[in-house]
Amino acid sequence: MSITAGSPTRSLRMAGGLLMVGGEGYLTGREPNPAARLATLDDWTRTHLPVGTAHHAWAAQDYISDTGLPFVGPAVPGDERVLVATGYGKWGLTTGAGAGLALAGRLLGEPVEWGPALEPWARPPEPTSRSVATLGEQSKGWACAATRPTGEAPAGSEVSRVCPHLGAVVRWNDQEQSWDCPVHGSRFAADGTLLEGPATENLARR
Ligand code: FES
Repeated sequence: MSITAGSPTRSLRMAGGLLMVGGEGYLTGREPNPAARLATLDDWTRTHLPVGTAHHAWAAQDYISDTGLPFVGPAVPGDERVLVATGYGKWGLTTGAGAGLALAGRLLGEPVEWGPALEPWARPPEPTSRSVATLGEQSKGWACAATRPTGEAPAGSEVSRVCPHLGAVVRWNDQEQSWDCPVHGSRFAADGTLLEGPATENLARR
């Protein structure tokens, strides 16, 4: 696997005789035209590499915490019965392994020295540029609902555009053919069926 050191980010890897090209990342639900992102990636690939027909294209979703550090520890403060590890920020190969070490140390009574830095409830929430942007999206969706286009789904897709998680306004993803929430990243099929949480319900029928 190789990855560019500069910008724009591109990653390349071979798998089963196919070339996988990654790049053009965007925040779920905040990109007005994901299909154009894919076209840019396709152009770059054809400019630099002798490739044929594209077989598949998809966007992966990665959780990134407001501080950039993963969350590893109790799901509920002070309750060790359920432990979580999430927010690897696209670096699961390293932070996933680190989370495994932290969890194993915790369970075996041999905590790793750096474990407390990852505890979900040990870091008081602080406003960061990411959290401020998230709050902005929540209010902007409602403030602009009447004027800002949220994208058009195929005919017959009569669903509410209010996310059942915490009420943000979802946006149509023209590449993935899904409704995406700009606040916490829930995703729904064109007919409103839940694809990915944190929402636990479908979009309501209109
Ligand atoms: S408000 Fe939509 S995922 Fe939280």
